[in-house]
Amino acid sequence: MLHLLKHPLLTHKLTLLRRKDTETKEFRETLEEIAGLMAYEITRDLPLRDVTIETPLGICTTQELAMDVVLVPILRAGLGMVDGISNLIPTARIGHIGMYRDHITLQPMTYYAKFPDNLSNATVMVLDPMLATGGSSTDAIQVLKNSGAKIIKLVCIVGAPQGVERIMHDHPDVQIFLAGLDERLNDKGYIVPGLGDAGDRLFGTK
Ligand code: PRP
Ligand code: URA
Repeated sequence: MLHLLKHPLLTHKLTLLRRKDTETKEFRETLEEIAGLMAYEITRDLPLRDVTIETPLGICTTQELAMDVVLVPILRAGLGMVDGISNLIPTARIGHIGMYRDHITLQPMTYYAKFPDNLSNATVMVLDPMLATGGSSTDAIQVLKNSGAKIIKLVCIVGAPQGVERIMHDHPDVQIFLAGLDERLNDKGYIVPGLGDAGDRLFGTK
């Protein structure tokens, strides 16, 4: 299922990310802020459990999060979303999956994967700003499923229709969250109008 998040602050900050004149520092800060704003919606259905605690004035029956959260950024660009979300879920554990797209075939190549234990008991959030052909995300999700993950959410900033369709087809059980859904991919597999190469803009490598 696709959740296209709408909020004036998200829209404003996404505009900043898209501007070609936005430099590395501002790009990095804004990406983190957008991820933080999205955290509110992507955690909306996290389960709670009852707890009884003591406040300074007495006993209180209330609730706390019942399930672990694991964040899995797809390297490199997904790293830029980790702090924004983990600031709000400081107990979240963090795995990493390294992938790059072959520039000719656009096929994703996995070069690294390291996850916390007990993925089957956690809500796993895959983080990547760009959902283009969907190849990287679908492979990352499959690697996580092979490692035991059962509840997986895909959190991206900008998506193309092709990428959304690919995930819905390959992983109908995975919720997809986007701040923007763009028109199309160009012949190099870049999202148009998009925001360019997210990894390069985040790390200043071009
Ligand atoms: C980008 C982006 C995604 C992928 C999206 O990474 O961060 O991981 O492309 O494209 P897809 O949906 O067609 O698979 P890239 O391969 O450029 O690697 P990088 O983050 O190391 O620059
Ligand atoms: N990867 C990016 O960084 N940007 C795109 O538009 C597509 C893939």
